[in-house]
Amino acid sequence: MSNEHNQEKLSSARFSESTDAFVEAFTASIQFDKRMYRQDIQGSIAHAKMLTKVGILNETELREIINGLQQIQTEIEAGEFNWSIQQEDIHMNIEARLTSLIGITGKKLHTGRSRNDQVATDIRLYIRDEIDLILPELKRLQAGMIQLAEREADTIMPGFTHLQTAQPVTFGHHMLAWFEMIKRDVERLQDCRKRVNTLPLGSAALAGTTYPIDREFTATLLGFERITENSLDGVSDRDFAIEFTAFAATLMMHLSRFSEELVLWSSAQFQFIDLPDRFCTGSSIMPQKKNPDVPELVRGKTGRVYGHLMSLLTLMKSQPLAYNKDNQEDKEPLFDTVDTVRGSLRAFADMIPAILVQKEMTYEAAKRGFSTATDLADYLVGKGLAFRDSHEVVGLAVAHGIKTGQDLSEMSLDTLQGFCDKITEDVFEVLTLEGSVAARDHLGGTAPNQVRAAVARAKLYIEQA
Ligand code: ARG
Repeated sequence: MSNEHNQEKLSSARFSESTDAFVEAFTASIQFDKRMYRQDIQGSIAHAKMLTKVGILNETELREIINGLQQIQTEIEAGEFNWSIQQEDIHMNIEARLTSLIGITGKKLHTGRSRNDQVATDIRLYIRDEIDLILPELKRLQAGMIQLAEREADTIMPGFTHLQTAQPVTFGHHMLAWFEMIKRDVERLQDCRKRVNTLPLGSAALAGTTYPIDREFTATLLGFERITENSLDGVSDRDFAIEFTAFAATLMMHLSRFSEELVLWSSAQFQFIDLPDRFCTGSSIMPQKKNPDVPELVRGKTGRVYGHLMSLLTLMKSQPLAYNKDNQEDKEPLFDTVDTVRGSLRAFADMIPAILVQKEMTYEAAKRGFSTATDLADYLVGKGLAFRDSHEVVGLAVAHGIKTGQDLSEMSLDTLQGFCDKITEDVFEVLTLEGSVAARDHLGGTAPNQVRAAVARAKLYIEQA
């Protein structure tokens, strides 16, 4: 074998012939699991400290192991580490290098553990690290949403159901709907972190170990809040990864809905917003084009995260206890989920506060489509009509408006009284867009007052989160 530190496969004694070269490459995971090198080293250092505490290693051996592992980390980070397919995965690559660096002491590191509990520990550490990077990014996105909502608290736009103009809403209110969704995503991720943050090390291959290990000590060193309570479950459970991916799929679903609106709103047909040029690209053939690539891509990338969730669920489906090699397939979906979520969040957190709202356009659009029809119906209820009857009256007025090209607010008092003699001059207050949004003045309503109150609550929430 060519590499200086890959003299021999670490588990070769039982075999009478060497592994087929194709099988070696087919079963290896080093190409992708090297991403967890930091967690693997961190876990090994904690394991070695625990072995020293219980008297299995001495202080000199511990020092050698720690120094060796730190040197390996330096080599990896400098791009000087010689990765080897023969050593199959990140765990064996590091252990083989450790032994070539410090000799026999390196071979003692694996006492009382197995790659099965080692890899389960590495993945948990890895996801925990990623969660701790994703949470602040979610917060940055939320801060951008709050900023935009505050800026546009009074801006009127059409609210839609069935993508048909329904009632006027404030832009700030619309933005805070997105804030609420992301708030739930944050809560889901925080909750998922609790179960991720559980130490499986000590489960060994599947049944535990004969050595007098101190799992509490290892857990404390690694910052785990608890310890898995069954070794068979400890080595084989991957539902924490499924949960994380389910969080990611839900977040991406939200971002894809948001993306869809940004794409629509920035079109020439809507012109509700202007996305800054730095988030868009041009066309190679149509000189006028400014394409909303970032939201489009985020919308598109949602699909791969759904796919990863389905991969992981299917990976675990029907697996008997305990560890099976199938589990090696958990990493690529997980890693790509992390990359996709982090990229999408970064793009969104940068882009949202930079959105420019075209207030005149949103206002004009809200005026089209009889968005204050419900206000007129409510007004007539106030004048003593039953709601179904007032609904009928307003329906006739709208039909007239469609025929004559007039909004309700543009009809004369005479015309309106033709539909119902209870209508008086004060009707025009409720037919304005401003009056319509201001009247929905309760917790959860669209009134500018309520947007400002919600912004204040949201600011407090993210300060405390
Ligand atoms: N590379 C393996 C994985 O990702 C590590 C555990 C292998 N254990 C074993 N007994 N083959 O799951």
